[in-house]
Amino acid sequence: MTENKATLSVNGKTIELPVYKGSTGPDVVDVRGLVSEGLFTYDPGFVSTASCESKITFIDGEKGVLLHRGYPIEQLAEQSDYLETCYLLVYGELPTAERLEWFRNTVKNHTMVHEQLNHFYNGFRRDAHPMAVMCGVVGALSAFYHDSMDFSDQDHREIALFRLIAKMPTLAAMCYKYSIGQPFVYPRNDLSYAANFLHMMFSTPCENYEVDPVLAKAMDKIFLLHADHEQNASTSTVRLAGSSGANPFACIASGIAALWGPAHGGANEAVLTMLLEIGDESRIPEFIAKAKDKNDPFRLMGFGHRVYKNFDPRAKVMKQTCDEVLNALGCADDPLFRIAMRLEQIALEDPYFVSKKLYPNVDFYSGIILRAIGIPISMFTVIFAMSRTIGWFSHWNEMMGGDYKIGRPRQLYTGYTKRDYPKK
Ligand code: SDX
Repeated sequence: MTENKATLSVNGKTIELPVYKGSTGPDVVDVRGLVSEGLFTYDPGFVSTASCESKITFIDGEKGVLLHRGYPIEQLAEQSDYLETCYLLVYGELPTAERLEWFRNTVKNHTMVHEQLNHFYNGFRRDAHPMAVMCGVVGALSAFYHDSMDFSDQDHREIALFRLIAKMPTLAAMCYKYSIGQPFVYPRNDLSYAANFLHMMFSTPCENYEVDPVLAKAMDKIFLLHADHEQNASTSTVRLAGSSGANPFACIASGIAALWGPAHGGANEAVLTMLLEIGDESRIPEFIAKAKDKNDPFRLMGFGHRVYKNFDPRAKVMKQTCDEVLNALGCADDPLFRIAMRLEQIALEDPYFVSKKLYPNVDFYSGIILRAIGIPISMFTVIFAMSRTIGWFSHWNEMMGGDYKIGRPRQLYTGYTKRDYPKK
């Protein structure tokens, strides 16, 4: 990193701070020395804070650019697939044909879960939200792998990678089967990653089930588009949990919990619920007005982003995929898709949304595709979590492979100063 200096004058003192320039993106001011000057920085929500150095993903919010190890998301969506993108994210380079074959086969060898894990599901009500179940069962995975828990060892980290990437679809499909009272379906290693997931979701022991290749391709595209996104809330949660030395299964479980919120990954479920509530294009103005009303907590779900102040490149690819899937399935006039496209058009012409630079994000169209594939709304955020597992792991692995300190932010304290307990 090239370096220059910033000067801070505060409380009559002048402090010099190093400024680092990355390979692209904003320069950063290194404020680590401030604590020895009796100062903290203050940045609730980390709007202006770079929490770490990373080489995995770059986002330019003004230009709507998303790069994974330098490759634009549009090119990966068009020419790659989820598992190849997983390899790229974690190892840093695209694999040779042989390495990709090895990677795919190694994932296939880890798709089953320990039979004891099946019993964890019985502790939940059938109508439990699948994200609650995923938080539990993914965290519980660490109980089964005492043989490889030294994560300073790269080999132990790599086996955890394969276990997580391979088992997330199995555990997710088990959530759905449990919720509808059907038997768990074992993975099939002759199927692709996405086709295997759809097989475990929708096949039954009673009859042969053929995965529709159109749906498998759409599922894989959805996985790829959600794979990683720099230091978002759930990835930052995983890094913070990992900084204490917690095992990767517990860290990924903390990422699942953070993703669940409607302001983050839970938005895809909230978008569908919102579109169903709107119900007809004639009601769109009513909901646009609610979104603009400061006294109404309602927000246009699937719109806005902390970083993208222009279009979210994933939303553009997602919209195109939506159109392709709905046409391939013969439901091009899907009313929800029509409402979504009209909602986008009206919002992008409305001065409120234009002034606040609110554009559709990755969650706006994804739910329409998932619904067309047959995934129930309650499973939408589980799909996001499955896909983002590679991003969470890649950031955890990058941190564990370098120098890191336990994350321990400070605060601006505005509570009582010292006072004595009243004498009885
Ligand atoms: C994801 O960080 C990531 O990278 C996340 C993600 C990933 O891949 O990991 O991209 C995935 O989480 C996408 C975001 C999904 N969330 C939603 O779609 C929920 C709806 N959107 C918002 O709640 C909101 O836009 C956030 C949470 C996404 C961003 O919030 P910020 O950056 O904290 O911005 P803000 O809440 O301060 O909003 C700025 C202004 C506010 O108005 P003012 O107070 O300035 O008057 O814009 C308004 C907000 O009220 N606003 C909205 C709005 N989003 C922001 N108004 C109506 N509808 C919205 N959706």
